[in-house]
Amino acid sequence: MDFNNEFKGIDFDAMDYPPTDEPLRQMYFMYKLRKVFDEKEKSLGRKLTYCVVTFGCQMNAHDSEKLEGILEEIGLNAASEDTADIVIYNTCTVRENANQKLYGHLGQLKAAKKSNSEMLIALCGCMMQQDDVREYIREKFRFVDVVFGTFNVFMLAELLYRRYSGEKQVIEVKKEHGKNFENSLPEKRKYSFKSGVNIMYGCNNFCTYCIVPYVRGREISRTPEDILDEIKSLVADGVTEIMLLGQNVNSYGKKYMDESEIVKSSAEYDFPELLNDVCKIEGIRRVRFMTSHPKDLSDRLIEAIKNNPKVCRQMHLPVQAGSNRILKAMNRHYTREHYLEIIEKLRASVPDIGITTDIMVGFPGETEEDFLDTVDIVDRVGYDQVFTFIYSRRSGTPAAEMEQVPEDVVKDRFDRLLKKVSEKAAERVGRFKNTIAEVLVEDMDSHDETMVTGRMSNNTLVHFKGCKEMIGKYINVKLTEEKGFYYIGEPADNLEGLAE
Ligand code: SAH
Ligand code: SF4
Ligand code: F3S
Repeated sequence: MDFNNEFKGIDFDAMDYPPTDEPLRQMYFMYKLRKVFDEKEKSLGRKLTYCVVTFGCQMNAHDSEKLEGILEEIGLNAASEDTADIVIYNTCTVRENANQKLYGHLGQLKAAKKSNSEMLIALCGCMMQQDDVREYIREKFRFVDVVFGTFNVFMLAELLYRRYSGEKQVIEVKKEHGKNFENSLPEKRKYSFKSGVNIMYGCNNFCTYCIVPYVRGREISRTPEDILDEIKSLVADGVTEIMLLGQNVNSYGKKYMDESEIVKSSAEYDFPELLNDVCKIEGIRRVRFMTSHPKDLSDRLIEAIKNNPKVCRQMHLPVQAGSNRILKAMNRHYTREHYLEIIEKLRASVPDIGITTDIMVGFPGETEEDFLDTVDIVDRVGYDQVFTFIYSRRSGTPAAEMEQVPEDVVKDRFDRLLKKVSEKAAERVGRFKNTIAEVLVEDMDSHDETMVTGRMSNNTLVHFKGCKEMIGKYINVKLTEEKGFYYIGEPADNLEGLAE
């Protein structure tokens, strides 16, 4: 839907009450907010600004693009956190210390608010789904203006309007999924040529260390039609690379949501099928997805990757731990043997695939032997990249009640793991040296203005001499120098005429 036309085509002034139907209701509030801001900007003699600060995973990053889209649609400009008039913290709560960190930030914002009387502070994201956090904010941080949850992102304009209309501390946190208007509200994408697309929300896995299922709700998938329609409109906007997002994309399609109801449950249409359908969309050149859970990764998915050159040669497959005892205690539902078997199948079918993972050290009850099993997995798999985490005792999860490993032991294991990880990754990335790879150019190099940076299909970063006209284009690059996690290269084709 062309939001601008809808927005401008409707006479909101003639309405006595806000419309009840979404997303029209939100457009009404955007319109009303613009009127409020017009007045403010006139008396201040300057434009109002915003800043969205994002913590956590791809889900939050994508939600922030929606928040920014709404704020830009209302005509606000982006600014830095300490000068912005509307500051939104999109929080993550996966680690226990996140709460204390947020409260620390809020202390600083309180001072900033004193020097800018216009300043409005809003908090959203996973942390706000927790009752105790909201209670604490209500009691201790009265100067926080708006609090909303992960299921309320689409209604930002309405919540801001309520605050500007005199309501004191606006708190709106839904606990369950409803329709969230992915296709019909604005989005400010960081890149014009690539975009994330939510294919499902929530998680059913209840890994014993993880808070996500408690704050993001039960797993539910968007219908294929809804997803494919969104991707088609992104393509019409110039997007060529899509990242399909979900906490466990391999279980896509078990329960669908449509118009805030679950309309069907189907075993027939699953993730491999969705992947194939996305690839069929004309104009799409690359499709990525994350996260995959090893327990649900099927042979059909491996086939779909193999047969579809548009599916990127990249697999993020969190292993978390290498010991069967720990995997069981984590409730991961796979063994190290099964995991290694998947890796073998993936490599046999898609030899150039880049494999990345998440690993946690210090899960309750982890012995030296268990830890060495984790190091062994890193050795055997040879990951291109490993995201390493120190286990955090997340209250509200079963693992928080289990016997914890002493901090100094965990720290020592973590350092040893990091060492192994960087040795192996450096070995891995070198395998493409002197070959030619297709690179989607993403940005100018932040350290050298004569260089650009982009990514290979397997997600490896490549830097090479270039110009801003290359951004968003696919360029064949010879990978001449290997630099640990990335390559320096040189364009392999004649690029004359690109700057025209
Ligand atoms: N759905 C994804 C991961 C989502 S959370 C999956 O199943 O892999 C991202 C990562 O944060 C996890 O992979 C895990 O390694 C880490 N994580 C989650 N809870 C944690 C905790 N309590 N302490 C430390 N790391 C944690
Ligand atoms: Fe958390 Fe496990 Fe769900 Fe991932 S699969 S979000 S780690 S509960
Ligand atoms: Fe954090 Fe929420 Fe993602 S808790 S990891 S932002 S789903």
